Amino acid sequence: MMADRVPPMRLGAIPDGLVERIGLLLGKVPTPIGEAMYSMPVARSLQVAQRTGILGALAEGPRDPAELAEHLGLQAKGTVRVLDVIATLGHVKQNPDGTYEMTASGRRWLDPRSDTYLGDFLADTYEYWDWYAGLEDLVRDGKHVELHEKAADDPYWQSYIRGQYQLARLSSAEVAKAIPLAKGAHSVLDVAGAHGEFSMALCRQHEGMRATIVDLPGSARVGEEIVAEAGMAERVRHLVGDMFQVDYDGHYDAALCFNIIHHLSPEQIRALFQRIRAVLRPGAPLCVLDLYDREGGQRANLASILGLFFHLTSGADTYTTDEVSRWMGESGYGSVEIKSLRTLPDLRLLVAKAV
Ligand SMILES: C[S@@+](CC[C@H](N)C(=O)[O-])C[C@H]1O[C@@H](n2cnc3c(N)ncnc32)[C@H](O)[C@@H]1O
Repeated sequence: MMADRVPPMRLGAIPDGLVERIGLLLGKVPTPIGEAMYSMPVARSLQVAQRTGILGALAEGPRDPAELAEHLGLQAKGTVRVLDVIATLGHVKQNPDGTYEMTASGRRWLDPRSDTYLGDFLADTYEYWDWYAGLEDLVRDGKHVELHEKAADDPYWQSYIRGQYQLARLSSAEVAKAIPLAKGAHSVLDVAGAHGEFSMALCRQHEGMRATIVDLPGSARVGEEIVAEAGMAERVRHLVGDMFQVDYDGHYDAALCFNIIHHLSPEQIRALFQRIRAVLRPGAPLCVLDLYDREGGQRANLASILGLFFHLTSGADTYTTDEVSRWMGESGYGSVEIKSLRTLPDLRLLVAKAV
């Protein structure tokens, strides 16, 4: 096995000016106050500004806050306060005439016309608020949320899967290039592939490639819409159902298993890898993209914060690359290559060929 390293990221206080920089360096800034008190209004202001349409309206151009609030049926005072919180993040700014507008960096992520728009993902994080309210129950009693057990027609699936699509668009071209396809490969199975963006990226890069996505009904319905909107419905199909039960309907030249094993137990992961192995042609790669637990001795980082989120929303866990590589070996695959990706610095792509 081999892996190249991308340095881990952390969140922290950014000093404003020399005095704060020195204070921070000397350990004189009471950072726990900021961490506990400021992170909540920052997160909630972004979520609320997205849901109420404040961000969408500002993407159209500068707006007077009172006029903006009236237009959206909101309260002027609360609107201004929320805008000021978002201004501290640099996504919007107030002009000398009192209007607010989106900054160039804000537009990159928050303007619906941008190719890197993340608005649905932001809206989806609104749901996280209630889940984190149950964190103490998780720590005290092991009670977790079941993210994927909502009814198929629950509106939640729209923001969840469109949000995941927007995230996937940021890395899909690089990920697709990292998948080692044999010459003449023309079919890929994308287990829990939802929006289909990773499959569509493979199709965009390989003429003649066809993709089959397996996902639950609520997710697949939104995924089918996204694939149709992208004009790829003739090359990308959805098989609707539970990935442990649905017939994978054919044999494939590659399989993707992206951002799903952190929702599963080790037994389920092995069972899934074996199910996929049964429909892979010999030599076809199984590619497992995920966030992996740090090896002993490495310090906690942003990935550790996601690790908590996965535990809270599934009761399962993140695993080390060693563990997952072993399970791949035990499930009918050869040696594992571990790839780092520039666009997904906290994740790793594990690739092993069916033997
Ligand atoms: C975090 S999303 C990942 C989507 C996509 N693979 C990606 O990397 O962006 C997890 C997906 O797993 C799907 N999923 C969860 N449990 C499943 C199951 N038992 N069978 C099929 N899909 C499942 C969810 O519906 C969701 O679409």
